[in-house]
Amino acid sequence: MSFLDMAKARWTCRDYDPAKPVEQEKIDAILQAIALAPTAKNFQPFRVWVAQSDEAMEKVRQVTPCSYGAPLAFIIAYSADEAFLRGDGKNFGEIDASIAGTHIILEASDLGLGSTWIGAYDAAKLHELFPELEGYVDVALFAVGYPSASAQPSPKHSASKSLDDIVTFI
Ligand SMILES: Cc1cc2nc3c(=O)[nH]c(=O)nc-3n(C[C@H](O)[C@H](O)[C@H](O)COP(=O)(O)O)c2cc1C
Repeated sequence: MSFLDMAKARWTCRDYDPAKPVEQEKIDAILQAIALAPTAKNFQPFRVWVAQSDEAMEKVRQVTPCSYGAPLAFIIAYSADEAFLRGDGKNFGEIDASIAGTHIILEASDLGLGSTWIGAYDAAKLHELFPELEGYVDVALFAVGYPSASAQPSPKHSASKSLDDIVTFI
């Protein structure tokens, strides 16, 4: 499949089959995709927590309404101290973690899984319930799992701006 076909095939899943766990090989493939993501200076300043136990997923459900019954979630956060700092003080950690997150959703789609990039979560509660994130700046959560039989792309999926609206040749 070409990259464009892969990008077109991905959509945000908002209804998972909670009874169908994600195979460990597929979790491992997603982790490999994360590790292959480009980062500024190749510093890879992020850390990924894989929430797969009942206890961890119960905490995920407490911090966001957007896990939609997924059996699995990835939490991505970065260490500001480990990220590339540009001369003007800009820290690249969030950009690096976001590229890794993009790899998660594309790899999940390639594996036949659904995924949700979750920005709507209670960051304070996330840190309270997952003290292992101490010292890291949270960037996003990602629900991953098999879509339910009735899951479909939302209308927003196909409501993209035209290229003319987002591109200027200069
Ligand atoms: C940074 C970011 C944050 C997002 N946060 C949420 C979220 O909290 N909940 C949700 O259901 N979808 C979330 N999404 C998914 C977007 O709504 C979705 O990607 C967009 O509407 C386009 O639809 P598509 O992914 O199906 O193509 C987020 C996506 C991005 C990139």
